[in-house]
Amino acid sequence: MTPPMLLILPGDGIGPEVMAEVRKVIDWFGTKRDLAFDVREDLVGGAAYDAHGTPLHDDTMALAQSADAVLLGAVGGPRYDNLDFSVKPERGLLRLRKEMDLFANLRPAQCFDALADFSSLKREVVAGLDIMIVRELTSGVYFGEPRGIFEEGGERVGINTQRYTESEIDRVARAAFELARKRGNKVCSMEKANVMESGILWREVVQAVHDADYPDVGLSHMYADAGAMQLCRWPKQFDVIVTDNLFGDLLSDAAAMLTGSLGMLPSASLGAPMENGRPKALYEPVHGSAPDIAGQGKANPCACILSFAMALRYSFDRGSEAERLERAVEKVLSDGLRTGDLLNVEGTTPVTTSDMGDAIVAALDASL
Ligand code: NAD
Ligand code: IPM
Ligand code: MN
Repeated sequence: MTPPMLLILPGDGIGPEVMAEVRKVIDWFGTKRDLAFDVREDLVGGAAYDAHGTPLHDDTMALAQSADAVLLGAVGGPRYDNLDFSVKPERGLLRLRKEMDLFANLRPAQCFDALADFSSLKREVVAGLDIMIVRELTSGVYFGEPRGIFEEGGERVGINTQRYTESEIDRVARAAFELARKRGNKVCSMEKANVMESGILWREVVQAVHDADYPDVGLSHMYADAGAMQLCRWPKQFDVIVTDNLFGDLLSDAAAMLTGSLGMLPSASLGAPMENGRPKALYEPVHGSAPDIAGQGKANPCACILSFAMALRYSFDRGSEAERLERAVEKVLSDGLRTGDLLNVEGTTPVTTSDMGDAIVAALDASL
């Protein structure tokens, strides 16, 4: 059997640094668990712009379309801030999401016990937390037309359009209900139906999908601003949260802090099943390229390593190996090893990005 093809796109800033640690983990599964991948690597973001003048070359796009799964580090950085909008590094990532039609972005926020004291919230609020944000990823204000900066009445006007079709809401709602059935069986849908027509439609469609096909799953609706407040007040009230592209972007960064650090939060962006039955999939940490710490060995590789664990679970149907990897990360954290983003209590040992990856591989060895 030919091994599945895994396309790795390290990107910019800390992207290549954290991806180097994921490579160690991928190699470990290949040699120790008979889980070999045909690993290819290519450029995205600023790195692709430097080489080709575009943040995503067409050949890379084609490779991503044919991959069994794509793993991305991070894109962007101050060097590229003044580029034309159409070639900014972030456009490379948005093109991947759009053309692969990755409509369901799963962003779990789990608080490992060893990190409960690192959250900016109290231990009792976050300890044991396990919620899943399902963010719509291919539509809404990120892609709606018209968009642009135009002249109007002697001044400039910046326009973006929030736009959702019924079928776009329907499919992401189904993804959320399906996930909820495998977890705590509760979905909370967030929008702003009090001020936005797209929010009214969102609420109606989510309710209709529920009533028709998922009446066994608990469903509640919340305005997204109130949802942000509830996420900080008592996040354990949630199981699965389903929300649009922009609200999901904001709410998932907020949820990251519940887990202790943005450096801990993985994500999976999933589309429709391919011919081989696997979903189109791109796995990426929630964090960005962290230019403030890039090149210093300070980045926490856990978010990217845990994104690979999500790939094992959602693309390769190896849930038990995903758990093995998650437990290895948890073990290293409970042994007190910490990258700089998590260093602020006694009894912990400061380590570099590379030390952290080595320790996770050692914990994997110990799991056999
Ligand atoms: P960021 O996530 O890069 O950084 C925010 C803060 O978190 C920084 O202080 C950073 O040092 C810290 N941080 C992030 N990840 C970390 C890790 N793994 N370990 C330790 N600390 C970590 O967000 P930003 O500064 O707003 O954006 C920087 C660039 O990244 C921008 O160009 C932005 O567009 C881009 N970005 C890309 C992605 C992506 O590729 N998926 C996501 C978000 C932002
Ligand atoms: C994220 C990022 C991206 C987004 C950017 C880099 C395009 O913030 O993945 O959360 O806004 O979706
Ligand atoms: Mn974001």
